[in-house]
Amino acid sequence: MKLLIANWKMNPTAEKQAIALAKQADAEGVVVCPPFPYLSVVAKVLKKAELGAQNAYIEDEGAFTGETSPKQLKGYGVGYVIVGHSDRRRLGETNELVASKVAAVIKSSMVPILCVGETKNEHETGRTREIVERQLELGLSLIGRQVPAPKIIVTYEPVWAISGGDRDHEIDNPEEAAEVIAYLRKQLVQFPVRAMVIYGGSTKADNLVGLFSQKDIDGALVGGASLRPEFKKMIKIAQSYS
Ligand code: PGA
Repeated sequence: MKLLIANWKMNPTAEKQAIALAKQADAEGVVVCPPFPYLSVVAKVLKKAELGAQNAYIEDEGAFTGETSPKQLKGYGVGYVIVGHSDRRRLGETNELVASKVAAVIKSSMVPILCVGETKNEHETGRTREIVERQLELGLSLIGRQVPAPKIIVTYEPVWAISGGDRDHEIDNPEEAAEVIAYLRKQLVQFPVRAMVIYGGSTKADNLVGLFSQKDIDGALVGGASLRPEFKKMIKIAQSYS
């Protein structure tokens, strides 16, 4: 089974819709990441899928207006936290802050979903590997050795392929994504983690089979399509892999 992570981003705008989306996504092998205000209600709906969050701060409590702590999230049954999404990097999140968040999420016994990916310009100037390698190395730099090694999920999301981002085309072919993911896997060997590596960026029912036929791709981080009825079809596709 391939993993599907539904990243709703700042959607939907009403609880009723959140409940409907959670019902549609509730299946084995799915992680649902709703906006914070819906965590509690979505947690109640999910029976088979797991609960994720889209962000977390680096401290457990204190004077950090507007932030949400890993400890608070854990209390809602959150098991996964997206860290370093390009939407947040665009708002000023640095690799250093991302590294602290990864460490904080692990400290609270949750699984960080670390996003890495190059911009369109970096892609066009052949810097993809250099950029993702740097984001990976810095992002994981504060993880200490532990037994067992902590679980993490690394997501390769080319910024130009994300529908909400600076995009004029999707990834040309799944091989291209798989090559970068294979490269990330090689780099990951030097870190004390147990990692899955998935792909994100305009995934939908139409292109999922192509991506998932690449053995290096363990799953997908799905934005826009997780808000549409086609997500049900994507779940079926993901579950069809042994
Ligand atoms: P998208 O979003 O599937 O809408 O491109 C993916 C993401 O940003 O996580």
